Amino acid sequence: MKTKPLWVGAVVLALVGGIGAALLMWRPAIAPADAQSPFDSSQVHRGARVAEAGDCAVCHTRPGGQYLAGGLALVTPFGTLYSTNITPDIETGIGQWSLPAFQRAMREGVSRDGHLLYPAFPYAYYRRMTDEDIADVYAYLMSGPAVHAPAVQNRMNFPMNIRPLVSFWNLLFLHQQPLTPVAQQSATWNRGRYLVEGPGHCGGCHSPLNPLGAEKSNQHLAGGHVDGWEAPSLLGMASRTFPWSSAQLARYLRAEVVEGHGTAAGPMRPVSLSLTNMPASDADAIAEYLLSLKAPAPSPVAPSIKPPSEVIGQTPGPLLFQSACAGCHGPAAPMRQIDGRPALDRTSALHATSARNFLKTVLEGVPATPGRPGPSMPPFAASLDNHQLAALAGFLREQAKPGQPWADLSSTIDELRQEAQ
Ligand code: HEC
Ligand code: HEC
Ligand code: HEC
Repeated sequence: MKTKPLWVGAVVLALVGGIGAALLMWRPAIAPADAQSPFDSSQVHRGARVAEAGDCAVCHTRPGGQYLAGGLALVTPFGTLYSTNITPDIETGIGQWSLPAFQRAMREGVSRDGHLLYPAFPYAYYRRMTDEDIADVYAYLMSGPAVHAPAVQNRMNFPMNIRPLVSFWNLLFLHQQPLTPVAQQSATWNRGRYLVEGPGHCGGCHSPLNPLGAEKSNQHLAGGHVDGWEAPSLLGMASRTFPWSSAQLARYLRAEVVEGHGTAAGPMRPVSLSLTNMPASDADAIAEYLLSLKAPAPSPVAPSIKPPSEVIGQTPGPLLFQSACAGCHGPAAPMRQIDGRPALDRTSALHATSARNFLKTVLEGVPATPGRPGPSMPPFAASLDNHQLAALAGFLREQAKPGQPWADLSSTIDELRQEAQ
């Protein structure tokens, strides 16, 4: 019976492991809160600003749905997840949540009844929010109208449909600590860092993610992908070919059109619209923080392969531009005169390493924002074929970055067409 001790050891280990895992996965429910007394209106007002800084409504309101009543589909590599109702409805919202229950959700990703929340809800960033900011958002949410809107059934793939598994994600990736102010930096810089790294959760889109959907280590804010768009790197913005000034960034973040850089499109559009009411001092603070971030030292770039000149010669790029785009983007177009809109050859989309954002903008257009004045751009997905798109992209890229064509243009176009189906 020499093996007995080993066998017993294995059982003990398995038991301890099992109990450990169960403890890790199990979180208690927090008792329903009693009816709340009304909150102080200045606190509610502050909470509204914090909710905008964290763009809660961008995810918690579905198109055509009631404000904050949830139901927006978030398509993740692990399946489709629906945001939940965060209005104070007792039955279907967070009406029974106490402040401690809300705080636990924001910092640890645990719902009031104890079930674990998926990290698509950016609690990994919100956990850096101050007690005061969390209490203010709570006051704001609890003071809004209650909307009856039952949760939509998620369609997560196996094994991610097993919620307790999120505990392992938390174990691996939930280590963000509250930010301690950096004494050598100004109060403005520290405020900007707080807004970007905490409520703003900018890294959720602007950082590359690992296969489990968490930020890749050491590449914070170095550029990511979201909904088929590129979220450009936020590092080294002060030292680009067309550098950003602090005033330009502050205006861009609040959804304005910025001379020399344009305006936010794609998934950045709702984020910037949510930031329109942000105090000017906060926009300046974010700008000061971002502009202090240095780009990593450039890695040697392989020389790009130029397409043979006869291919360029044949492409009707200039002709297409004249007929489809110049009416708005051409040198004499009226659009160029309003709001100091930039010529296309200065937009980030044409300077990016990938053609994605340029192509997405042309395919999908720039829809008008309801309730806001301003021009819009029609979608061209149906009117341009893939050859025409490639020709147009090749031509405009050449204007913006001579001699540096996009290498994978036609495969990117194919990908985008497939994603759109
Ligand atoms: C990127 C999208 C996104 C943003 C931004 C976002 N949420 Fe959520 N939130 C979600 C999703 C998705 C869920 C549901 C997660 C799940 O079911 O596992 C959720 C769940 C929650 C829950 C838990 C509700 C429940 O019934 O368990 C609370 C509370 C919450 N969010 C509050 C907020 C607040 C406050 C903000 C803004 C500061 C915010 N969320 C911003 C996506 C988001
Ligand atoms: C939901 C995803 C998402 C979030 C959250 C987000 N961004 Fe963006 N951001 C994008 C995308 C996508 C673009 C590219 C938009 C375009 O090309 O018009 C972008 C563009 C930008 C740009 C312009 C960069 C350039 O080179 O042109 C800046 C600056 C920026 N974001 C800052 C921020 C800051 C600061 C935050 C946090 C407060 C933030 N973003 C949060 C997705 C996001
Ligand atoms: C009806 C007018 C109109 C037409 C036609 C049009 N656009 Fe636009 N385009 C706009 C508007 C408005 C914007 C929003 C940008 C802004 O406000 O600065 C925009 C933005 C863009 C952007 C993003 C620039 C930025 O500032 O971030 C690109 C790239 C672009 N257009 C390319 C094209 C191309 C290529 C064509 C032709 C296939 C085209 N557009 C046709 C009106 C138009």
